[in-house]
Amino acid sequence: MGFELIVTNGTIVTASEVLSPGIEIGVKNGKISCLGMFLPRSDNTLVVDARGGYITPGGVDSHVHFAQDNSPTGDNFTTGSRSSIAGGTTTVIAFASQKKTETTVIRCVEEYHTRAKDQSYCDYGFHLILSNPTPQIMATEMPLLIEQGITSVKLYMTYEPLKLGDAQLLDVLMSARTLGFTTMVHAENSDIISLISTRLEASGHTAPYFHAISRPQIAENEATYRIISLAELTDVPILIVHMSSEIAMKHVRKAQTRMLPIHAETCPQYLFLLSERLKATHGDAFEGAKCVCSPPLRHDPKDLEAMWTGIANGTFTVVSSDHAPSTYGHSGGKKLGLKGDVMRYRDIPNGVPGVETRLPLLFSYAGREKDSRLSLQRFVQLTSSDPAKLYGLEGMKGSIAVGHDADIVIWYNEKELKDGVTIRQSELHHGVDYTPFEGMRVKNWPRLTFLRGKKVWDRDNGGVVGDVLDGKFLKRGKGKIVVGRTGGEVKGMLAGERNYWC
Ligand code: URP
Ligand code: ZN
Ligand code: ZN
Ligand code: ZN
Repeated sequence: MGFELIVTNGTIVTASEVLSPGIEIGVKNGKISCLGMFLPRSDNTLVVDARGGYITPGGVDSHVHFAQDNSPTGDNFTTGSRSSIAGGTTTVIAFASQKKTETTVIRCVEEYHTRAKDQSYCDYGFHLILSNPTPQIMATEMPLLIEQGITSVKLYMTYEPLKLGDAQLLDVLMSARTLGFTTMVHAENSDIISLISTRLEASGHTAPYFHAISRPQIAENEATYRIISLAELTDVPILIVHMSSEIAMKHVRKAQTRMLPIHAETCPQYLFLLSERLKATHGDAFEGAKCVCSPPLRHDPKDLEAMWTGIANGTFTVVSSDHAPSTYGHSGGKKLGLKGDVMRYRDIPNGVPGVETRLPLLFSYAGREKDSRLSLQRFVQLTSSDPAKLYGLEGMKGSIAVGHDADIVIWYNEKELKDGVTIRQSELHHGVDYTPFEGMRVKNWPRLTFLRGKKVWDRDNGGVVGDVLDGKFLKRGKGKIVVGRTGGEVKGMLAGERNYWC
């Protein structure tokens, strides 16, 4: 049997190479089975012409919130995954969220499976949000979940319904040490935020902009340093999610310089948007609610610059979207924060949409042009190959390499799209009613997206051409260390040096 699909006439980019333009991709049974020149065609081969554009691996967005209880007006799997493929992301890792009152996580994960099964245009996995990590769960349920392919957890240091104290954080890190799951941490100091919020509220400062005032960088800096310290003590790798602060990022950088496996993530909102977006605009006093996320957008263009430095110098392992939107204009209050006539930032659900715009925004700055900020290879590392490695999808997702799933994005030839694309809510595919990136111009956009060899997005001919039955649950393996020491499973590596754990 010949190839079912051959992609020709493009420039393939991987995490390490930009291949020469003549190289074709041959696909069999949904997998990349050959990279080479002049691949043989049969009658059954679909030949796709990349028309001189770049070809990158399907995006892996390792931080999206779909169908979570706490965002009832946000995206479900159907709308969220539709938006994903339209922006070139073929794999998402969403969250199954344990409530503090729940004493099991198995049933919780089963519930999230029912929310996703046969309802996803792209492949998906789950991280587990642990808000009540009982000894019983850690000893008996976590090993079962790892067998089921759920090999990562997210811990919160803030948000009353989710947050863990240091003793609980340490307990989970000690389990990670034994079981080898990957630990993500939302690092903000909860007590700092409460103190400021109480005082702001007492003086009537409750408009959306005060969300940013209530969560200063020092809250992120302190919590980041603390979780790095706990991870060093217990000798386990962690990933600090959605970083926005330069000092916090420098804590990560210093830890990495000491070869500690401390990974970090940032998101497009912390590369492009400032807290002025939380102020009233267009005569709508509440419009700032659209840009409420945590950590908040920061005040100074230098803060954005700092995050770009972390992109370029290797501090960040992952750029995710943290797609966590709520509908703005639904009944009952704009993004839920409007009680009568009073705007209360504390009631605004946190999070912005971004799964569809993540790749185009970052790709606009990848390459060798004057305004480029990262190489094409680094673009692939951050958006696809490194999240795949860190979360146990290596060999399957995140590269254009033989044996990998044929998840392929074909971009426009730059000459075809001279003026780029202006981001417009009306052209996006998520279920919510706004984008914080409205009006921004990007240089390029995925023209075609393939999921395991099947065309699921064709921007010029039908748009979303995939189906909700296309997406499969991904049983993930254990993650691999990407920074710190090279190689190895995500699991303590200093064990021999720490005799007090024996
Ligand atoms: O504001 C944000 N990031 N909301 C989503 C939940 C989270 O903490 O990731
Ligand atoms: Zn649950
Ligand atoms: Zn978070
Ligand atoms: Zn999040």
